[in-house]
Amino acid sequence: MKSILVTGGAGFIGSNFIKFMLEKHDYKIINLDLLTYAGNLENLTDIENNPKYTFIKGDICDKSLVKDIFNKYGIDSIINFAAESHVDRSIENPEIFLQTNILGTHNLLENAKRAWKIAPDDKYSREYKDGVKFLQVSTDEVYGDLGETGLFTEETNLQPNSPYSASKTSADLMVRAYHETFGMPVNITRCSNNYGPYQFPEKLIPLMINNCENNKKLPVYGDGMQIRDWLHVKDHCIAIETVLHKGKTGEVYNIGGNNEKANIEIVKLIIKNLGKSEDLIEYVKDRPGHDRRYAIDNTKITTELGWSPSYTFEEGIKETIEWHMNNKDWMRKVTSGEYMNYYNRMYSQRTVDKDCQTV
Ligand code: NAD
Ligand code: TYD
Repeated sequence: MKSILVTGGAGFIGSNFIKFMLEKHDYKIINLDLLTYAGNLENLTDIENNPKYTFIKGDICDKSLVKDIFNKYGIDSIINFAAESHVDRSIENPEIFLQTNILGTHNLLENAKRAWKIAPDDKYSREYKDGVKFLQVSTDEVYGDLGETGLFTEETNLQPNSPYSASKTSADLMVRAYHETFGMPVNITRCSNNYGPYQFPEKLIPLMINNCENNKKLPVYGDGMQIRDWLHVKDHCIAIETVLHKGKTGEVYNIGGNNEKANIEIVKLIIKNLGKSEDLIEYVKDRPGHDRRYAIDNTKITTELGWSPSYTFEEGIKETIEWHMNNKDWMRKVTSGEYMNYYNRMYSQRTVDKDCQTV
C-alpha cells in the first residue's frame, strides 16, 4: 500500500483532502500538522480511527522529525498543504510565513531527496525510486494582480505582492529548483480561492457567514469590487488527486472554476441566503497592497489531465451556508478564545471608510 505524507492536514483544504482520499483509495495517509490556530482535529473526527490514517503533531521545519517520518513510514508521495495561509496575518507578522512556507518546504524537499534518490550521496545522480512525487500546493496569488482583463496561465510572470504570496512564490521556486537541479519528480498546483466546509473564519466567506448569522457588521475592504475566482474545496481536492496520479513530472498546473465574483456580490448573496439586511455591510479601510483581481485559465489541467469543476458557485455557496447552519458548534468552538483577540486586533483599526461605498 502506498504511503502519502499530507502536511497541514488538519487545516481547511488538507482535512477535506484526507477524508476524500481515504474514502476513495487504499493509501496509507500520514498527516503531519503543527496544529496552529488554523489546525483543528475536529475537522477529522469521522476518520480519526481509520486504520489507514495516522496523525503526527509536529512542525514541517523540524529536521529530525521529518527524517524519522520518512524512515518509519516509507513515504512515497508528499502533498504539502502546511502553510501560514492568511494575507492579513502576513501583513501583521511576515516572519512566520518565511519560516513555515519557505524553510518548512525546503526541509520537506531535502528529506524527500535523501529518502527517494537511488544514490543519495552521488550529487550527479538524478535517479529516483519509482512512483515517488512531491506535490506542492500553491496559489494563484503568486502571479500578483491581474488587472481588469486576461487570465493567469502557467506562463504568467510571478509577481507576488503580499508577504504571504511572496513566501508561497519562494517555496514554488525552491520546488522548481529541486526538480531542475536534482531531478526530483515534482508538481506544483496553483489554485484560486477555495470555499466550503471547515474553512477558518478569518477568510471572507466563513467570516461573513458567521458575522451575518450573529447580526454583526460585515467588514468589506475598500469598495468591495475586488475580484476572486472561487472554487469549491471538493473540486480542488479532485484536482490535486488528478495531478498526483496523472501530472507530468516537473509541471505546474493552474486550478480554477471559471467563477469570478466581486467580494460585495458574495457578501450580498450571503445576506440574502440568511434572510438578513444589507444594513449589516460596513465598508472599512482597505488591505494595504490589496490585489484587485485574480482569475485562472484552467485550460492546461482540463485538456491535458481531464479535470473540470463539478460545482456551480450557486450550488456550492448554498451547500456551504447549509453546512454552517448544521454545524454551529464547530463555528462556536473555533471562534471562542483566541479568535476574538485576533478579530479585535485586525478589525478595530479598520475605521469605517465612507468614501468606499459602491452601491
Ligand atoms: P489553513 O490555514 O486552513 O491550514 C493550514 C494548516 O497547516 C493548519 O492545519 C496548520 O496547523 C498547518 N500548519 C501551519 N504551519 C505548520 C507547520 N510549520 N508545520 C506543520 N503544519 C503547519 O490553510 P488552507 O486554506 O487549508 O490552505 C492549505 C494550502 O493551500 C496552503 O498551502 C495555501 O497556501 C494553499 N491554498 C489555499 C487556498 C485557499 O483559498 N484557502 C487557495 C489556494 C491555495
Ligand atoms: P481572503 O478570504 O482573505 O482571501 P485572499 O485575500 O487570499 O484572496 O479575502 C478574499 C477577498 O475578500 C479579498 O479581496 C479581501 C476581502 N475581504 C474583505 O473584504 N473583508 C474581510 O473581512 C476579509 C477577511 C476579506
